[in-house]
Amino acid sequence: MGSRAAARLPKHIAIVMDGNGRWAKARGLPRQVGHRQGAENMRTIIQACLDLGIRYLTLYAFSTENWKRPSAEVDYLMSLPGQFYERERHLLHEHRIRVLIIGDVDGLPAATREVVLRMQEETKDYSALTLCLAFNYGGRAELARAAQILARKWQAGELASITEADVADALYTRGLPDPDLVIRCGNEMRISNFLLWQSAYAELYFSPKLWPDFSKRDLELAIEDFAKRDRRFGGVENV
Ligand code: FPP
Repeated sequence: MGSRAAARLPKHIAIVMDGNGRWAKARGLPRQVGHRQGAENMRTIIQACLDLGIRYLTLYAFSTENWKRPSAEVDYLMSLPGQFYERERHLLHEHRIRVLIIGDVDGLPAATREVVLRMQEETKDYSALTLCLAFNYGGRAELARAAQILARKWQAGELASITEADVADALYTRGLPDPDLVIRCGNEMRISNFLLWQSAYAELYFSPKLWPDFSKRDLELAIEDFAKRDRRFGGVENV
């Protein structure tokens, strides 16, 4: 990575891990094999973030809309956190990675819920890298939930007004910095209900690579592109 990119490193990168199914189809394999390969690739990108000094990485692993998929595929996706935990537990501890789950954990099957909560609890004191797993996550559902939380507080007389900070505090991502860079792999150009509030000023980057093929070099290319962007946050340049 060039020195300019290193100097303007995003603090928080969020990724839509798209293209597992196509990766498998191109090889004549069942979709599940694509998801398995995609889950394997998480380690490559987590390791790359550690190497590059990224402090927050959010991965979109299962959306509130993914329940519409065939039940065998959903069942398989639900087994991935357990497999990931077994395979990568040592990595989480060795590198002091905090796992945070964003999404409706209560809506998960008991075994999946148990494993994601255990992973979260076991790593809660770490901070070298925060790995945020969006699992049973949807941006609209998150905002609807925030509205309910705020309505209850309002009713209880705990709020005099509702500010942007109040909304941010009622989201799953409470306390996390907003993503600076949102990457979507798999040659699709949409946001798919991902971090709708949080990505208001994120730089967007679309990669043609399918997620299982998305490499450290591809991540560096995205970061190099990010370093060239002029982020104005609604203001003007150099005033
Ligand atoms: C989208 O590809 C990918 C998913 C719906 C699943 C992503 C999940 C992982 C990579 C692993 C999750 C693991 C853990 C530990 C949480 P797609 O199936 O929509 O691909 P397609 O567009 O090519 O069909």
